[in-house]
Amino acid sequence: MAGLPPTPGSPSAANRRADPRYVGKDLGTQCAHAGERWERPGFWSTSTPIHNATTFVYDRAEDLDDVVWRRTAGYSYSRAGSPTTSALERALSTLEGVEVTRVCGSGMAASHLAVLAAGAGKDGPILASSDVYGSVYTMMEGVFPALGTPSLVTSFADLDRLESEMRRVRPRVVYFEAVTNPLTRVVDAAAVITMAHRHGARVIVDNTFTTPYLLRPVELGADLVTHSVSKFLSGHGDVLAGSVGCRLEDYDRLTDMLIQVGSALGPNEAWLALRGLKTFPLRMARQCESAFRVARFLEGHPAVARVRYPGLPSHPDHATARRLFPEGRYGAMLSFDVADCDTAKAFRFLDALRLVLSATTLGDLYSIMVNPARTTHRWLAPAQQAALGIGPGTFRMSVGIEGVEDLLEDLDQALRACQTA
Ligand SMILES: Cc1ncc(COP(=O)(O)O)c(C=O)c1O
Repeated sequence: MAGLPPTPGSPSAANRRADPRYVGKDLGTQCAHAGERWERPGFWSTSTPIHNATTFVYDRAEDLDDVVWRRTAGYSYSRAGSPTTSALERALSTLEGVEVTRVCGSGMAASHLAVLAAGAGKDGPILASSDVYGSVYTMMEGVFPALGTPSLVTSFADLDRLESEMRRVRPRVVYFEAVTNPLTRVVDAAAVITMAHRHGARVIVDNTFTTPYLLRPVELGADLVTHSVSKFLSGHGDVLAGSVGCRLEDYDRLTDMLIQVGSALGPNEAWLALRGLKTFPLRMARQCESAFRVARFLEGHPAVARVRYPGLPSHPDHATARRLFPEGRYGAMLSFDVADCDTAKAFRFLDALRLVLSATTLGDLYSIMVNPARTTHRWLAPAQQAALGIGPGTFRMSVGIEGVEDLLEDLDQALRACQTA
């Protein structure tokens, strides 16, 4: 079953493709080829192997030619994909309900690729939500305009205002996060997508915060859906990855961009993400439930001025969240303002946390706290931060899988501890 029998030494077949046991006579030649590419397994391993190869070989030159020219599916050079990244792509397509997905080296790379694949360019302006992740904001404000692509960043909260911006800008690409970072505003994704299409734009939704556990943007009509796979989907804080899902008609352009920009995901990272994905809904169920408890607890805490969690009736977009998300699911992200908090007090609060990690990521199985003004949104001037609603005492919390009572106790003691210098 498992390919050719293991015979020592090197048989004298002239052509290694015809007989993979042929490895030459020289020690150097043998080191290069011996042992490799013997087996044509007639079995499956339970998890997809990590194909640590930059390139793939075929029995016939014609076979490689077919792959390179995309006449048949296959692998040529791993910047364009590998069996391990394909496994992750198939899994993500299934979860998002999209026809195809391409994975790449980070969530930022995914956003970049999606914008290019959606047709942004000199004659294709971008209209992006001002509530996007900080580096996406600066990419929209800096990178694309510098390369000649007009780009406008604006609030998506007021739909009438948004529509007049669409009329004025005539965007080719509309880009937003379904739940915003860090303020957890819930964009009326269905309404924005319909509006953007009415104005001839293509829509990209970053589904990192919401995940397919809450929302499947392509089912609402979005053209492309992006993820920082580094977050909830992989979930263990051990891999940096991104993804772009879309319809088949966008596959070639997206793949061309992936190859030309060169932001491929490595097979080891793909494998880690795929493994993390297996427990994704189990983690999400617990994390969403705990986030709700944490939000209610903080809302009643005297040291907290304001809590933003879409599940709370006090949240400005609670009704939108109820309409868009499955019943009782509001995500694992929340943000809150500590009362009378400057940067020094914010640091005291972070330093006082004993379980919740003070770190610049989210979506992992452990709880994470971040001060956006000093981290994710530090690129923005204080006035720009204030205009978005981010102050020195604003914190974003990603709720993990720990026991929720432990989390509440930790938050309470840190909120008390930070009051005095
Ligand atoms: C909503 C969102 N999109 C995209 C990104 C970028 O992802 P990555 O860090 O994997 O590049 C982040 C990072 O925090 C994010 O929060």
